[in-house]
Amino acid sequence: MGDLGSVVSCPVRGTGGDARYPGNWGGEFVRRVLGYFEPASVMDVMAGSGTTGDVCSQLGIRCDCYDLRPDAPQGRGGWDVLSDEPERGAQMVLCHLPYADMYVYSEIWGGKRDPRDLSAMRDWPRFLDQCGKAMARMLQWVDIGGYVGVLMGSIRRRGILYDMALDVPRPGPVTHRLVKVQHNERSRGRAYSGKFIAIEHEDFLVFRRDAPYVFAGCVPKRTEWDVRRSPRTTWRGAVYAALVALGGEATMAALYAEIEQFAIAQRPENAHWRAKVRQTLQLGADFEAVERGRWRLRGDKTAA
Ligand SMILES: C[S@@+](CC[C@H](N)C(=O)[O-])C[C@H]1O[C@@H](n2cnc3c(N)ncnc32)[C@H](O)[C@@H]1O
Repeated sequence: MGDLGSVVSCPVRGTGGDARYPGNWGGEFVRRVLGYFEPASVMDVMAGSGTTGDVCSQLGIRCDCYDLRPDAPQGRGGWDVLSDEPERGAQMVLCHLPYADMYVYSEIWGGKRDPRDLSAMRDWPRFLDQCGKAMARMLQWVDIGGYVGVLMGSIRRRGILYDMALDVPRPGPVTHRLVKVQHNERSRGRAYSGKFIAIEHEDFLVFRRDAPYVFAGCVPKRTEWDVRRSPRTTWRGAVYAALVALGGEATMAALYAEIEQFAIAQRPENAHWRAKVRQTLQLGADFEAVERGRWRLRGDKTAA
């Protein structure tokens, strides 16, 4: 087996595919992955410019390529991972997912959005859901004992990181997570105002198929929780949040009226919750008394 660390850096992209095809993953990366896993047969279900097929030809590995693009340079085009079936299975199924809608592939190769195109899905939860479905299909196409390897990226929008490896439903157990270093980062060359951390990597998740029927997957759950209603609320958390909500300064009466509605104040064991609020204010270095019966956040606590 070839050497492979959990961080894979290929400054020279290697031969295979078309370097001009947006988001192509470079022949050297594919070569290193195949050098480690040594599959006798490969399938790429989002083959794009045909990088995987080219590398497999060079290595003498049988490879079936599929892509939604009708003019696919390798294998079968016009093929939808979510509804079509491959001709046969493989020991390793590879897939390089779109970067959400950063590049809308159907617009690139077809001139207009194709509703089947995963990169045409603007809604992040829907995009993730469809990627999870695609991965569940791939796990059924790989031979028992074989691997599914999926490369996925992340994007930052309005200060939030949309990270596929964190959010995507995983259809089976992850045996490896490789970080692929990006050498021509998408975000580097762009003009941004203010500070930002450039995204310089992608994640390659590897799943193994161990059984015919049952797969131990993991589906991240989307949630929004409210300090006022949560069983996880702490006293410091409650008092700080209430003071912020009240504009950074409040009378004890206003604070009591605010916190009285919180779940933490309504628990039977917290019958003396007002005393707890006073104690939190007195002991917490984040709060200071303005005058008797009136408290505020210390100056450095109002905004991060
Ligand atoms: C990141 S690119 C793959 C690039 C490829 N690894 C290369 O080196 O050229 C993602 C590909 O997914 C394809 N795609 C998008 N939706 C698809 C679908 N529903 N079924 C099959 N392929 C799809 C796009 O046409 C695009 O070529």
